[in-house]
Amino acid sequence: MPKLIITGGKRLSGTVSISGAKNAALPIMTAAILSSGKHILKNIPDLIDITTMSKLLETFGASVERDRDCLTINTDALSYAEAPYELVAAMRASVLALGPMLTRFGKAKIALPGGCRIGARPINLHLLALEKMGAKISLEEGYVIAKADKLKGTDIFFETPTVTGTENIMMAAVFAEGATRLNNSAMEPEVKDLADALNSMGAKIKGGGEGLIEIEGVTSLKPLNYSIIPDRIETGTFISIAGATESDILIKNCEIRHLDAVIDKMKEIGVTFNNEPDGLRVIGPKKIKSANIKTLPYPGFPTDMQAQFMVLMALSDGISIIKETIFENRFMHVPELQRMGAMIDTDINTATVKGVKKLTGVPVVATDIRASASLIVAGLAAVGTTYIDKIFHIDRGYDKIEDKITRLGGDIKRVDD
Ligand code: EPZ
Repeated sequence: MPKLIITGGKRLSGTVSISGAKNAALPIMTAAILSSGKHILKNIPDLIDITTMSKLLETFGASVERDRDCLTINTDALSYAEAPYELVAAMRASVLALGPMLTRFGKAKIALPGGCRIGARPINLHLLALEKMGAKISLEEGYVIAKADKLKGTDIFFETPTVTGTENIMMAAVFAEGATRLNNSAMEPEVKDLADALNSMGAKIKGGGEGLIEIEGVTSLKPLNYSIIPDRIETGTFISIAGATESDILIKNCEIRHLDAVIDKMKEIGVTFNNEPDGLRVIGPKKIKSANIKTLPYPGFPTDMQAQFMVLMALSDGISIIKETIFENRFMHVPELQRMGAMIDTDINTATVKGVKKLTGVPVVATDIRASASLIVAGLAAVGTTYIDKIFHIDRGYDKIEDKITRLGGDIKRVDD
């Protein structure tokens, strides 16, 4: 099993270029199910999850070719098929095929995603909304089976703003009869990017990325020719790296409008930012100030940045309270950071972090995508050498991160154990 070996304590400098957003690429790839033809997607990151989604589309009969950061998806031969458990188990986002399959073919069969390390993550809100649009939903042998000759537009109210739930129903509604209104929908930039991509295919969607989204049903769509947004969580991760290592980094190809809550909090703890013609310059402070955060749906502080921010608080000059309100089990990085010398107490969804002078490099284990990012941030800041195991989690969400860090002068390498 490959490992990452990081020798920390160095200041980094130079330029890093941000890749396309995983959480925009995945739903936009499933949007290709909605129309036959040759779809062109640009700025697509090179990630395990993109490969998994490509395999899912190939299971449905599509062909997927990659040329650097460009994907060509041909759906001329795409037809109804089930989304197998192996792929859904490897990547929950496979559930995003449910809406497009159902509205295009009148039926869909998707393995029910099991539990996840960071929380139960049910899809009940996806299914309730489809039922409200007239779909017949049944659960058989671990599969969701959905049927509807024609979905009917209606008013949907999401009990909690769900990102993939909003995306699934937005895609299901594009061919529904009449208008669908999604109330309390997720406002993440990736949701807006999907709405923009669907509108570029000929859909009629208003309010993408706002709490209320209105979709007027249409009868057909044309293939995609679309370039996706940069990854705000990858950007946030590199801001955390600069903050934890007193480094001076220029971040290119990022969209700072998508990071208001993160940048505000980083400024509060002493990180400085300059908007430059080429990108965002980030300078880490000599002393990190402590601060409290509470993760919230967008535009609040993103849960996908909680672990990385916790490392900064572990090195701060005081005590911080970190509240995780989105997922019920998203502190699995804590025992690994404690092994590195961090002082963190957790109580259900609250972590109390007491800053220490230094972290020490030791062997640690990655448990999910963002927890593994926090171990990279900690390893770069730590004294000594950190060995990170189970790094497939990193490859699921970060495009060649060790190459990007090496180009900034970081001492990080991937070795086969
Ligand atoms: C998306 O997951 C992202 N994944 C996650 O990123 C991200 O952490 C999450 O949104 C929150 O921002 C993708 O976009 C592929 P939710 P999603 O539905 O859509 C509850 C990463 O690291 N809920 O918005 O699965 C749910 O349990 C990943 O890149 C229901 O109860 O998240 C959670 O508590 C991790 N019933 C809350 O809503 C439902 O039917 C928000 O979940 C749906 C959700």
